[in-house]
Amino acid sequence: MILGVISNHFYKYHYHPFLGHNSIPDMAAPQHPIPLLTPYKLGKFNLSHRVVLAPLTRQRSYNNVPQPHAVLYYSQRTSNGGLLIAEATGVSDTAQGYPQTPGIWTQEQVQAWKPIVDAVHAKGGVFFCQIWHVGRVSHSDYQPNGQVPISSTDKPLSPQIRSNGIDKVEFTPPRRLRTDEIPGIVNDFRLAARNAMEAGFDGVEIHGAHGYLLEQFMKDKVNDRTDEYGGSLENRCRFALEVVEAVVNEIGADRVGIRLSPFAEYSECGDSNPKQLGLYMVNALNKYGILYCHMVEPRMKTVGEKIECPYSLVPMRKAFNGTFIAAGGYDRQDGINAVAQDRADLVAYGRFFLANPDLPKRFALDAPLNKYHRDTFYISDPVLGYTDYPFLDQETNGVAS
Ligand SMILES: Cc1cc2nc3c(=O)[nH]c(=O)nc-3n(C[C@H](O)[C@H](O)[C@H](O)COP(=O)(O)O)c2cc1C
Repeated sequence: MILGVISNHFYKYHYHPFLGHNSIPDMAAPQHPIPLLTPYKLGKFNLSHRVVLAPLTRQRSYNNVPQPHAVLYYSQRTSNGGLLIAEATGVSDTAQGYPQTPGIWTQEQVQAWKPIVDAVHAKGGVFFCQIWHVGRVSHSDYQPNGQVPISSTDKPLSPQIRSNGIDKVEFTPPRRLRTDEIPGIVNDFRLAARNAMEAGFDGVEIHGAHGYLLEQFMKDKVNDRTDEYGGSLENRCRFALEVVEAVVNEIGADRVGIRLSPFAEYSECGDSNPKQLGLYMVNALNKYGILYCHMVEPRMKTVGEKIECPYSLVPMRKAFNGTFIAAGGYDRQDGINAVAQDRADLVAYGRFFLANPDLPKRFALDAPLNKYHRDTFYISDPVLGYTDYPFLDQETNGVAS
């Protein structure tokens, strides 16, 4: 009893790495620490908790240049010792497929990222840039000189309804990359990683998920090539692994993560044996010693819809030697369980973090969450549905604390 009082007192007045001074009420004094909110050493980065900001495309980067309003958006979602992954960011002028998404292939873009990265660092966050090429998930309107998008294949993609349930998107049938063009795309990823370092990011996450270019090579329902980048599993994974190798050589394995979604079928990009694909990839990634593998749960039927599902990421988690980040459909208790049961080291949250800038604090206090609004996910407004989600403590509004 006396010990309990002492420990409550200790937690009440002790400085907490991401909640700040005196900010835990007595009730929340962690007699037993909450697994999701315990520190974690991510390579050279000391994280104070395991609640990661998932990469979230927000379409507010006018003309593919990150904007000043992103300073507040990311700063609001930063906690001391928290890991943030920036929204998908194009590696070249052929990489884009949506309006107003950021890039990192020009000096203007690199300079525009700098104040955003600085703001995250000023609050003690660790910030990775997700580097991206959409491949065939594009339209000639987004391509230089109106050219057709590139892919592993020339198979066209049917029109889709986006995850906001509103927008219908049309795609231009792609052009199959020639074998001799592939090193140039690998080089675009390498240069993007170099640019991310110049912008001040702590590392990059290679976007190898969700039906975009890397997956268009990896998955056998799309890849119909007959060269050394098609056919066998080894051949289909070659392009993604060449990108990993190039980025590792450029910035060092301790700054490289990758996102994979072997079970997903977004943008008609599925595989006949996703578990085999996931295992092949993590085993191959082990050879490069990259910092983390970030995998999307099989239960994510679309980017924003969760289903009951018998599959699990555990075999991949067990086979991978680095840090394993799981994402997709997690709530607080699910995340706690995943860490407690060693199914993940870190858990990335998308929609909840989008709508709750102080999500780690809310999880620590088991406080109620704001609801997210799908209709403002992808609008171009610099405030609405972007930086106007309320904090638990309205007074600070995320700017000061
Ligand atoms: C608005 C929105 C934008 C997203 N943008 C990206 C993105 O840029 N890159 C990516 O890998 N995943 C993206 N995703 C997927 C999320 O990172 C995450 O995996 C997904 O929302 C499932 O996690 P959740 O249930 O915690 O939201 C996006 C999801 C949403 C809702």
